[in-house]
Amino acid sequence: MELLRVKGGQPLHGEIQASGSKNSVLAIMCAVLLCDGETILENVPELSDVNTLMQILEETGLKCEWIAKNTVRIQNDGITNSEVSEELVRKMRASFSVLGPLLAKSGKSVIPLPGGCVIGARPVDQHLKAMRALGAHVTMTDGAVSAEINGRLKGAAMFLGTRYGATVGATNAAISAGALASGTTIIYNAAREPEIVDLVMFLNKAGARIRGVGTDIITIEGVESLKGVRYSVMGDRIESGTYLCAGVITRGKVTVSNIAPQTLAGLPSLLFDMGCGITMEGDSITVDASNRELRPTNVITFAYPGFATDLQPAMLTLLTVANGISYVKETVFDARFGFTQELTRMGADIKISGDTAIVNGVDALTGARVVASDLRAAGALIVAGLAAKGSTNIEGLQYLDRGYENPVEKFKSLGAHIERVQS
Ligand code: EPZ
Repeated sequence: MELLRVKGGQPLHGEIQASGSKNSVLAIMCAVLLCDGETILENVPELSDVNTLMQILEETGLKCEWIAKNTVRIQNDGITNSEVSEELVRKMRASFSVLGPLLAKSGKSVIPLPGGCVIGARPVDQHLKAMRALGAHVTMTDGAVSAEINGRLKGAAMFLGTRYGATVGATNAAISAGALASGTTIIYNAAREPEIVDLVMFLNKAGARIRGVGTDIITIEGVESLKGVRYSVMGDRIESGTYLCAGVITRGKVTVSNIAPQTLAGLPSLLFDMGCGITMEGDSITVDASNRELRPTNVITFAYPGFATDLQPAMLTLLTVANGISYVKETVFDARFGFTQELTRMGADIKISGDTAIVNGVDALTGARVVASDLRAAGALIVAGLAAKGSTNIEGLQYLDRGYENPVEKFKSLGAHIERVQS
């Protein structure tokens, strides 16, 4: 089995470049189904999730290839198959996001239901609501969603949202499907995440007419067709935040560039509250925790511009060594504290009460053999290992490879002692 071995105690110093955003490129690649001809995507992170989505697009008849480092070419000469295989959807839940674009472009879409996952239940009711609002006939048989439309989807007004707030995936689905619908689509309570802004910038470059993105009301004037374009994907704010937390927990000084600092929303101010120095300049952000004592703080995850749920595991890990008690409330997913059991094995003092983790800072974590149960848990366990006394061996690297590009090389360039080993 392959493990990640991290030897803790070395303050991280230096600068890394953020990779392209995983969640942004996945949404954009799904939207390429709508665009005729050739699309070239730049700043694409080389991740297993990206390769899985390329396989799905190939299954529908598109041609996908890496043509240079971090550059993908996708040729769309027409969709030849509107059914996605269960094996691929099971590999990556985000593959359900081809539902809207496939339906809008080919009039039909059959996608197996992705099911729950380790961070929570993850229903798709709002995706289906959006497709129905646009006129699709949606049914469920044999564990798959089947959506069909005679002719074109029809623009409509819709309210999307769950008890957790706005939904990123359903907002993306409604935007992509609405882009080729006839007439006007209005999405109320739209999610405002920067990855949605990136998707819309791509679609508008391809010929779509979408306004209001970044606010909670998005208006789409449907067009007849979209054309492939060249587009560079935004930097990954979750990857960036993970490296910043790693810099802080090791009491180092780390700069992340190729990232729009405002996309990190609440993270910089929380790190400032904890006692770190923060500098933001152009497309880079520096956090300085050299010789600083870390104060506790409280965190509530929420849809953007709230604190990102995807950064909660790294942030909570940081708080395990702060000087006092912190509260972390998770409001987006209902089971995103699973990784804290592994932190407890490393000496952290964490109690879970419903949707809140009570984190009592300890002097130091100690290395242990731990298992990553999802992508962001993997990032958090690296952050923990970098600060722990001794060696931490992390299992579950298939999750890490889904969302972090070249993590070993990047952490090493900051001075970390980290390597992949067989055990
Ligand atoms: C996206 O997931 C991201 N994934 C997630 O990142 C991220 O955690 C999440 O947005 C929130 O920011 C991708 O972009 C590929 P949602 P998504 O729809 O779209 C509930 C990572 O680690 N809900 O905003 O699936 C849902 O269960 C991943 O990179 C419904 O109830 O998230 C959740 O509790 C993990 N019904 C909440 O809404 C629906 O139809 C927010 O989900 C849809 C969602």
